[in-house]
Amino acid sequence: MKDELLLKVDNLSVRFAVKRGGGWRKKSYLYAVDDVSFEVERGKTLAIVGESGSGKTTTALAVARLVPAFQGSVDLEGEDFLTLEGDKLRQARAKVQFIFQDPYSSLNPRLRAEAIVREPLDSLGLAEVDEKRAIVDRLFKAVGLRPEQQRLFPHQFSGGQRQRIGIARALATQPELIICDEPVSALDVAVQAQILNLLRRLQEEFSLTYLFISHDLGVVQHMCDSIAVMYMGKIVEQADRLSLFNNPLHPYTVALLSAVPSVDKKRRKATRRVLIPGDPPDPVDPPAGCRFANRCPVAQPRCSESEPPLRDVKGGHRVACHLVDESAKSPMS
Ligand SMILES: Nc1ncnc2c1ncn2[C@@H]1O[C@H](COP(=O)(O)OP(=O)(O)OP(=O)(O)O)[C@@H](O)[C@H]1O
Ligand code: SF4
Ligand SMILES: [Mg+2]
Repeated sequence: MKDELLLKVDNLSVRFAVKRGGGWRKKSYLYAVDDVSFEVERGKTLAIVGESGSGKTTTALAVARLVPAFQGSVDLEGEDFLTLEGDKLRQARAKVQFIFQDPYSSLNPRLRAEAIVREPLDSLGLAEVDEKRAIVDRLFKAVGLRPEQQRLFPHQFSGGQRQRIGIARALATQPELIICDEPVSALDVAVQAQILNLLRRLQEEFSLTYLFISHDLGVVQHMCDSIAVMYMGKIVEQADRLSLFNNPLHPYTVALLSAVPSVDKKRRKATRRVLIPGDPPDPVDPPAGCRFANRCPVAQPRCSESEPPLRDVKGGHRVACHLVDESAKSPMS
């Protein structure tokens, strides 16, 4: 079915209690994810990008119910995943799988590859023994590993092959949604391309929906249909891939994009490198207005007075910046 929503996340927030100062001081909270909403259509890829600490992984973990949400809802195929219990929860868990950044530390070193790939079927109590063996055989083939490699341990594989095992494991339960958290960041560039190609091929073969997390816009430009840019727990810009790459609106996105080596000669000439000075403010005590104000090259006094809401400025292109209006022109241009 075309244009069918698989995932709808509304007003999702995750907070962590952190200790600050002396023992008598009251608990403080770090809002790692702050009022985040997005949708992903079945068979499509939404990329979440942003620098380290912006809340990408925490968003993904909350969507997969691996960290508790403080508020918000995660609608998966029409059901609120965050409130499911018992059998319904078990069935829903099978639909959402993770691929992690570091294939080595995410694979149990004492298990043979075949047992690693089978593990989600075991833990969710899916399939009989013979059936599981056939599933594992099929998955090894699907990710481009040889049958005899099933007997090997993780340390006997290269980084790229280990990520193939991680991908096979993620596919075992026939999931709808795969969350890829920096799946190629730990790999050499040549191997990155192979793994990205594999992910794309599997997406087509199994009609998978991806939430694809990366700090690198260069990686996601070949991998996604739409992009959400996060800064300090918030989405600051969201658009389809072409709109975001051709007409980035938020000053933070403009700066991120200017660092991406472009294959397109015209674009390479047109963009000059924009450096973002300084560090993000303390996430436990965020500033009152725009959270990017202390680093924004075009900030104005009003930017620190009120927080810019994320709003649609042009056919689904959403941005949170006081200086962008319906003419959809970036204050950086
Ligand atoms: N378990 C935790 N307890 C306290 N704070 C946490 C916890 N996990 C994450 N954080 C904080 O939440 C914020 C978001 O972290 P998160 O790991 O989601 O960012 P990220 O965008 O995935 O970064 P990276 O690119 O480094 O992976 C950071 O300020 C981080 O320090
Ligand atoms: S609201 Fe102001 S400080 Fe924030 S990104 Fe826009 S121009 Fe920069
Ligand atoms: Mg992360």
